Amino acid sequence: MNEKPAVDIPASLAEALRGAKHVAVLTGAGVSAESGLPTFRDPMTGLWAKYRPEDLATPEAFARDPRLVWEWYEWRRGLVSAARPNPGHLALAEMERRLPRLSLFTQNVDGLHQRAGSRNVVELHGNITRSKCFDQEHAAESWPETGDVPPRCARCGSPLRPDVVWFGEALPASALAAAWDAAESCDLFFSIGTSGMVQPAASLSHQAQSRGATVAIINPDVSNFVSRSQILIQGPSGRVLPALLEKAWPASRTTHEG
Ligand code: OAD
Repeated sequence: MNEKPAVDIPASLAEALRGAKHVAVLTGAGVSAESGLPTFRDPMTGLWAKYRPEDLATPEAFARDPRLVWEWYEWRRGLVSAARPNPGHLALAEMERRLPRLSLFTQNVDGLHQRAGSRNVVELHGNITRSKCFDQEHAAESWPETGDVPPRCARCGSPLRPDVVWFGEALPASALAAAWDAAESCDLFFSIGTSGMVQPAASLSHQAQSRGATVAIINPDVSNFVSRSQILIQGPSGRVLPALLEKAWPASRTTHEG
């Protein structure tokens, strides 16, 4: 027998979801784990178990060794382009279609929510498939094939970098403001697949809770989130979210990409 145990979804959460006027969702790397993309802080498999963020994900690291940083992100871009949305991404896209308003904020840079069909997605940490130049932040969709690694900006010649937020950099102001607004005005807030170690992840759920929203956490490892006023669903989001969708709207179906 290798049948997986059923996910236990509290009826009160399914009801809250079905009746919600505005649902805000914050996602992190765990949502894409079942698409084969490594998280950051899982002890054995996370990227930060194998690599040092200060060598790869800061402006100083790029200034020191732009080739190393560019090539590391090229490797990650390859993983992202080979990955496909999983049932968790698809269930969130389906929830958006069924609800009056769902605001999705993601710390992920992989674009899998959009590929799953979610439309109202705000990227807090940028997108790994885009590039911009290091000196002027010119967006770069193409560049001269000079053989330089990293390639150079066609407008100013500065080296190109991924259009993601690194440690020590500010989050895009409009994305952050939208996340705060949603946390303050939603009636239901989900924190899914994030360790909450990087701000504003932890603060957003507290803010939502202090404004009276129901807060639900979906994560296989809920040891960090023990607060009796939150709803904890322990499990992988690729199983929990479809189960939640089915419980809120029985006999619902998700469609697969492509
Ligand atoms: P983390 O790696 O810190 O946390 C991932 C979370 O996902 C953990 O709490 C895991 O328990 C959980 N998880 C693992 N598998 C899961 C699954 N199948 N379903 C649901 N949850 C699962 O990733 P983030 O919280 O996203 O920033 O990290 C936030 C930021 O820190 C990232 O955007 C990145 C990182 O350093 C930068 O690179 C600047």
